[in-house]
Amino acid sequence: MKILHTIGELRTALPGPQSCAFVPTMGNLHEGHLALVRQAKQHGLPVVASIFVNRLQFAPHEDFDRYPRTLARDAELLTGAGCDLVFAPDEREMYPQPQAFKVVPDPALADILEGHFRPGFFTGVSTVVMKLFTIVQPKIAVFGKKDYQQLMVIRRMVEQFALPITIEGGETRRSDQGLALSSRNGYLSPAELTEALALSQTLKRLAEGYRAQPEALETLEAQAREALVARGWQPDYLTVRRRGDLQTPTTADASAPLVVLGAARLGSTRLIDNLEF
Ligand code: PAF
Repeated sequence: MKILHTIGELRTALPGPQSCAFVPTMGNLHEGHLALVRQAKQHGLPVVASIFVNRLQFAPHEDFDRYPRTLARDAELLTGAGCDLVFAPDEREMYPQPQAFKVVPDPALADILEGHFRPGFFTGVSTVVMKLFTIVQPKIAVFGKKDYQQLMVIRRMVEQFALPITIEGGETRRSDQGLALSSRNGYLSPAELTEALALSQTLKRLAEGYRAQPEALETLEAQAREALVARGWQPDYLTVRRRGDLQTPTTADASAPLVVLGAARLGSTRLIDNLEF
């Protein structure tokens, strides 16, 4: 597996446009990322993974500086998963000038949920992913469903700009107890790691409650929130949404495909999770 740091080196190494499958990451990889690489590999194309901690998607008070940079370990893991090329640019390579041109996603999708609590986040994500797409020119790109809204924003961006890229979602990988794997789990203390299970358990109860009593959605969401607050969490949102547009379901949607999404802070770590149901 080759590790390339410049756009020029990457372009030379690739056989041409639409000739690879691509897994963008910010590094500090775990089994969830490796599963995306293995999924990409199934297409029989060379697999490119990028590792770049994108400053544009972090607010000034967020964890950009302390986000773990673990390139050597990531490279070993990627080799084991069958990745062919790693694109690991530094900040000067990706943003030689301040990135003044940005991709601003549809506010109806990007200013709710994560976008409401992290203003500008999806502009930062869309801008770097568009730039990575123009650099790598993949045929297929794979994103984890753990970042459910991100996957939807990217799908919409690809559709609206008619990019010739197939976007695939990869299932969320979980610990045996049900904790969604995340690079940010590394910030949790052993006690917090155990407590973190409460997020997916609360989402599961909320989904079950909604199927039993769809008319009580607001009450069920408030109860889910109170349950986490009582355990010492600070929830941002715990909510049932339609899978198609992430809007609140109406009574007509009660048996439609839905997703329950949550984001909450445990100590100083913000965790997100979701379950389709
Ligand atoms: O999901 C991530 O790791 C990042 O948001 C992404 C897609 C690599 C863009 O920086």
